[in-house]
Amino acid sequence: METNSSSALEDLVKQATTAAERSYSPYSGFKVGAALLLSDGHVVTGTNVENVSFGLTICAERSALVRAVSEFGPGIRIAAVAVANLNEAASPPCGACRQMLAEFAGPEVPIIFPASTGSTTMRFDEVLPLAFDMKLKEGPRKA
Ligand code: THU
Repeated sequence: METNSSSALEDLVKQATTAAERSYSPYSGFKVGAALLLSDGHVVTGTNVENVSFGLTICAERSALVRAVSEFGPGIRIAAVAVANLNEAASPPCGACRQMLAEFAGPEVPIIFPASTGSTTMRFDEVLPLAFDMKLKEGPRKA
């Protein structure tokens, strides 16, 4: 599948928007949906699920990610990501979600955020330029 084709990304946006409509967000009223295109062609969606103990809220992107691993196993790779909300402005993933997605997404992976004025598509390494990685642990620090 052509993951960078605009029709594939637009289809992913539609699925993210449908997921946002299922949001459980009685506290913020901010409905978010994420759709992950996996490298094998499957699409997995997620939405934000809030909790009265606010800190337990899970974002749409992480909902989609844990669902993808639960359904398809630890070998999944992400080929493209769409994040939609039901407001006018685009909502790129929060920092925690960027780091979680980085575990399964390469630097070139496109992320698309729709807004009422049009969609923005960025590479994953533009959205998260300095992801934490265990490679950072290699080698002793020179004095
Ligand atoms: N939210 C997401 O679903 N994804 C993000 O990347 C940022 C924020 C949700 C969490 C909460 O339910 C609502 O948006 C307001 O922060």
